[in-house]
Amino acid sequence: MVGGGQLARMTHQAAIALGQSLRVLATSPDESAALVAADVELGEHTDRAALLRLATGCDVVTFDHEHVPGPLLRELIAAGHTVHPGPDALRFAQDKAAMRQRLQQLGAPVPTFQICAAADVESAAIGFAGEHGWPVVVKTASGGYDGKGVWVLDGPAALAELAGELVGLPPADTAPDVPRQLVIEQLVPMQRELAAVLARSPFGQAAAWPVVETVQQQGICVQVVAPAPELDEDRALAATRLALRIAHELGVVGVLAVELFQVPVSEQYPDGIVVNELAMRPHNSGHWSMDGAVTGQFEQHLRAVLDYPLGSTAMTAPVTVMGNVLAGPGDGAAGNAGNAPGVPGVDERVHHLSARFPQLKIHLYGKEFRPGRKVGHVNVSGTDTAELRRIAELAAAYLGTGVWPDGWSPEHPSSDGAGAAGAGAGTGGADVAGSGAAGAGAADAGGAGRAVGSVASDGPDASDAAGRAGGGPAGAGPAQRRAETERVQ
Ligand SMILES: Nc1ncnc2c1ncn2[C@@H]1O[C@H](COP(=O)(O)OP(=O)(O)O)[C@@H](O)[C@H]1O
Ligand SMILES: [Mg+2]
Repeated sequence: MVGGGQLARMTHQAAIALGQSLRVLATSPDESAALVAADVELGEHTDRAALLRLATGCDVVTFDHEHVPGPLLRELIAAGHTVHPGPDALRFAQDKAAMRQRLQQLGAPVPTFQICAAADVESAAIGFAGEHGWPVVVKTASGGYDGKGVWVLDGPAALAELAGELVGLPPADTAPDVPRQLVIEQLVPMQRELAAVLARSPFGQAAAWPVVETVQQQGICVQVVAPAPELDEDRALAATRLALRIAHELGVVGVLAVELFQVPVSEQYPDGIVVNELAMRPHNSGHWSMDGAVTGQFEQHLRAVLDYPLGSTAMTAPVTVMGNVLAGPGDGAAGNAGNAPGVPGVDERVHHLSARFPQLKIHLYGKEFRPGRKVGHVNVSGTDTAELRRIAELAAAYLGTGVWPDGWSPEHPSSDGAGAAGAGAGTGGADVAGSGAAGAGAADAGGAGRAVGSVASDGPDASDAAGRAGGGPAGAGPAQRRAETERVQ
């Protein structure tokens, strides 16, 4: 796999179970996947020799990002290596201008758009807005991520500043020598963001997971809800069919994530969906499937690129919610001077989180904690979407920052904890595994020691009891905790 980030790390995890081993091309030994894979090639994804070293002896070359230039992939193929997805498909995940044009050709729903050279952005945007109105969205065709490279302009006044910013942008790896291209498009009347994720094998078999809702804040995905709550069947079916058709027409092999906007049904968008962009690799919007589907996306990506039959995409619980863990201030290490006083290190966070929410699945990427960086995710499954979303949000925030947003404390779980731990058990109760896990925790606790025992076994029960009894000792705890929380923030 080219790229040593968290996607490669989790693909490695899935490869182990399939009896495969993943060789990783990483840029440094402390990248997420390089920390755990035995077979690591160090080098850049733009380095021909490094790519050849990686490919030699591998059955198939695949990717944890889309930044390898197409010409280098063609050289690998010419040298006899198998590359999935191939450069002809990958191009549409690398270049939003090519993607918009191709999807329009296929009759897929895309926003009205125009392509221009970066140098012409001012006149092109004014011309586009003259025809279609403000606001307009401007995007770099290549090299953007997490909203970097996307601008929403309300009027011509914003253009001069944008033109200045564009000059300072580094060139994209996949298009270093060509003048930067931009996509100018209409701001669509988006109701929410969805994703249709599937995998397709060289044999032509494809399997799709249920359409999910992706919740974004400041251009970054913070939560994914599977399946998308209250999505009408027609839209869900249209989205899945569209994604399957795109995979087939573009010849995608591996996981394909189609990022979608849900919009009101109109003449332009008769199915009430619009394609935003494509990713041809395991994707953040599929992380929930590791714990919420029979076959997770990392295993499925491997099955697809190895041309195995694909696994079932059926959900193993009615609802699974994924929360992205974004690092807060401090590096998360216990006792580090960068952490605010009293803020626990990551190990202690995992300990408390596991105690409060025994039904939660934690995935940490081994990355250094830097503010705003995606360092892990959590998955939680059950039946009550609102409650699962609350748990995922609390858990992700706590794991990232070391501070419970609701002031919960293991010493005084009763007030806030009553709802949370009680509900946790309730949610878990719906699936037997959840309560089983809590029970196991309690049973172990006797031998494992006081700290674990008091959290895992007393938590839900004691908090329930205290809640019923009026929560005598609870008052001081959370109040004090909230004061600490404020200091920390
Ligand atoms: N045409 C559009 N109309 C409305 N919102 C948009 C449009 N294009 C992008 N966005 C918003 O900007 C976000 C980032 O755009 P996207 O093209 O997905 O960039 P990135 O490659 O950084 O993920 C989207 O998730 C969406 O919230
Ligand atoms: Mg996007």
